[in-house]
Amino acid sequence: MNSGRILIIEDDEGMRFFLTETLAKEGYDHRPVASGEEALKLARKEKFDVVIIDYNLPKMNGLETFRRLREGNPNMEAIMITAFGSRDLAITAMNEGILDFFNKPLDVAEIRVVIHRALERCQLKTEIQSLRHQLDETQGMERILGGSRAVQNVVERVRKVAQSNVAVLILGESGTGKELVAQALHYTSPRWRGPFVKVNCAAVPQELLEAEFFGYEKGAFTGAVKTRRGKFEQAHGGTLFLDEIGDMPLTTQMKILRAIQENEIEHVGGEDPIKIDIRLLAATNKDLEKAVAEGTFREDLFYRLNVVCIPIPPLRERPEDIPILANHFLRLYNEKFKKGIESVSPEGMELLQSYSWPGNIRELENVIQRGIVLAYNDVVGKKELIDVYPPLADNVPETAGPKLQDQVDAVASLTEKRLILEALKEENWKRQETADRLGISRKSLHNKMKKYGLER
Ligand SMILES: Nc1ncnc2c1ncn2[C@@H]1O[C@H](COP(=O)(O)OP(=O)(O)OP(=O)(O)O)[C@@H](O)[C@H]1O
Ligand SMILES: [Mg+2]
Repeated sequence: MNSGRILIIEDDEGMRFFLTETLAKEGYDHRPVASGEEALKLARKEKFDVVIIDYNLPKMNGLETFRRLREGNPNMEAIMITAFGSRDLAITAMNEGILDFFNKPLDVAEIRVVIHRALERCQLKTEIQSLRHQLDETQGMERILGGSRAVQNVVERVRKVAQSNVAVLILGESGTGKELVAQALHYTSPRWRGPFVKVNCAAVPQELLEAEFFGYEKGAFTGAVKTRRGKFEQAHGGTLFLDEIGDMPLTTQMKILRAIQENEIEHVGGEDPIKIDIRLLAATNKDLEKAVAEGTFREDLFYRLNVVCIPIPPLRERPEDIPILANHFLRLYNEKFKKGIESVSPEGMELLQSYSWPGNIRELENVIQRGIVLAYNDVVGKKELIDVYPPLADNVPETAGPKLQDQVDAVASLTEKRLILEALKEENWKRQETADRLGISRKSLHNKMKKYGLER
């Protein structure tokens, strides 16, 4: 028995019988159908490596059938049967990725060679993909760095929900790693072979959002010179990541909701519904619950997107992650810019840990990058850091060199702040419980929270 599964799409009964017989003799596992519609239906349930398609099919023609089949299975190879050798058709079909042609009448020896080649190609593609997956996997979870409880929680949650198909809402300030988490979710999910498609809802002009999401038919509006697929269709079989979802206008929210509920979209200016199979991820740095309360975000869409929520805490709440991240970026950019820099000095690191990082990890990445570009020693020191990024100095006393006691105090404060924050979180921000846990009075806790700017 030859390995590989073959789908035959041929409306002519005689020809279908001939192909079926030929493949059976060669020992191929195969299934014959008589139309494109039947083929699509079957392909939703079973996977095929190679498809033999007659171009002249009733209703949906061979090329259109091929396009739709391939969307669900990008590794599939196709061979087309044509009655009369049309050069234009051959060129179009080749451009679309059809591997080869049979001209009627069919030659059995030729069929053998062509099918063998198609199967080989398909297997090769699958192999390459699985190798790529191994690479991608190291680009998934392992890319989320940090030893803090907060980061471990994020990683744990990603692991838990990656396997399921539920929608996930990723919340965090700008630069906290929302996109990184979205990618990790995709690449560790069963959909990793499929596409990961991102739309930045804030970056697309409102009037184009619908076309961007759902695609459009040729002539649907001025400028629509040809039919185009939208992001939903592009993400079919994979993951759609709606970034900055908080910036989506209400009218678009309604349309998106419908698409999600019905698993189906329509091109702008089109009439036929198109089935879609996607996993939805969304991210925002806005307070969506507040937006819901204010009526600028639909409650029903919010619940659809927020089946599971992954909050990513800001960097200032987990300063213990800073050395790991800083060293990671140091190695990364050192290699990129081919400088011989080995480390950030201890004073430099302390400075980084005492800054509040409103731009979070992205801001840290930028600072390290600048430090590397401009550093003249093999160590990035405190002075260089302040030189390349003056805001860092705002967080430290302006004295020339802090005395030892000052430094000890600074570290002690940092530790105290962290311990209080951890306790607050453990006790769900209940003051009395937190104070008891820390063994201090409620009043003292209150003062310290004020001092360190700790708020829920
Ligand atoms: N835990 C982490 N470990 C390693 N790198 C990280 C981590 N979190 C974020 N990064 C890096 O920080 C940068 C910013 O992350 P990302 O783009 O995912 O953030 P974001 O939340 O989507 O930001 P924005 O709101 O600005 O779009 C990226 O280069 C990313 O690789
Ligand atoms: Mg982002």
